[in-house]
Amino acid sequence: MKVTVMGGSGRVGKAAAFCLAEEDLVDEMVLISRENSLDKIKGESLDMNDALAAKDIQVNIMASCDMEDMHDSRVVVLAAGVPRQNGMSRQDLAGTNAQIVAHYARQIAKYAPDSIILVVTNPVDVMTYIALKESGFSRNKVMGLGNHLDSLRLKNLMSKHFDIHVSEIHTRVIGEHGDNMVPLLTSTTIGGIPVERFRNYDSFDINQIVEKVKSAGEYVISMKGSTEYGPAFAISNIVNVILKDEKKILTVTSYLDGEIEDVHDVCLGVPVKLGIEGVEKIVPIKMSQDEKESFLEAVKVVKATTLEVLTKFQEEE
Ligand code: 2OP
Repeated sequence: MKVTVMGGSGRVGKAAAFCLAEEDLVDEMVLISRENSLDKIKGESLDMNDALAAKDIQVNIMASCDMEDMHDSRVVVLAAGVPRQNGMSRQDLAGTNAQIVAHYARQIAKYAPDSIILVVTNPVDVMTYIALKESGFSRNKVMGLGNHLDSLRLKNLMSKHFDIHVSEIHTRVIGEHGDNMVPLLTSTTIGGIPVERFRNYDSFDINQIVEKVKSAGEYVISMKGSTEYGPAFAISNIVNVILKDEKKILTVTSYLDGEIEDVHDVCLGVPVKLGIEGVEKIVPIKMSQDEKESFLEAVKVVKATTLEVLTKFQEEE
C-alpha cells in the first residue's frame, strides 16, 4: 500500500503523513513538496522513521519534489496550497489555491492515474470540484476532507455537554466546510438513543454548539497558527476506511449528481459509503425542513464560489 502526501512540508500534510505511517497500514509513504522545502521534508521523513522504530513499525518514507515518485499510489492526499492566516476565511484562499490544486491534480492524473485523490486544501468544497475537473478522474475517485472533521468537532462538544464518552456520540455535519455547515441533529443518537430523548436535551443549545464548530478552525489558528492534529487524524480515518475497504459511512466532500435533494454539479459534504474504490455510494438521506433549507443554502453559496473561481481561473489560463 502506497500513499502520497502533496504539501508534505506543511503542518497539516506532515501531521497527516505521520499519523498514517503510525497506523502501520501503508508500506510506502511519499512526502512531496516544492524544491525549496525538500530539505525540510527530508528532515521530517528521518524524524518520523526514528519515531516509528519506537513502535516497531517499518514504513519506507520518501521525501521528494519529483512528481514521478507518486507512481502507484493508492491514495494521494492533496494538502498543497496557501494555508489560512489568522483572521482569514477559507474562501479568501480560493483564487490562489485553485491554481495550485489544478496543477497538482493534472500531475496526479499523469503520474498516479489509478489513485484516489483526497483534497484537503481550502476552501475544500471548491478545491474538490477543481481537482475533479482538472484530473479528469471519475467522481468516485475524488473527495474532500471537510465535514468529517466538523463532525468530529461536533462529537467532542456533544460528549462534553451530555457527559458521555465521545465513542457513544453518533452525529454528522454535512454541507459546506465553512459557515454553511449543517448539523444533522435529526439523525443524531447517543448510545443508539435519539438525542432529543435525553433529559438535558432542553439545555443543549445546538446553535451555540454549531457556532463553536464553525469557528473551531479559526480559533485554533488564532492560538497556535494552524490546525494539524484534527485534520491529520480525520485524514487518517478516511484513508484507513478506503485502504481497508471498510465500506463505512463518513461525511466527505463529493460531487453531487442528484442524489441529495436533486442537487447537481457541485461538491459538498454528504454521507458516503467509502471503500477501496473510493466513494462507492452517496447515501440519500431524509432531512428535516430546516436541515433541507440550510443544505440548499450551502449549495447556493458553494456553487457561487465555485463559479467565481472557475471564471477567474479560466480567464488566467
Ligand atoms: C480545519 O478546519 C484545515 O479546514 C481545516 O482545521
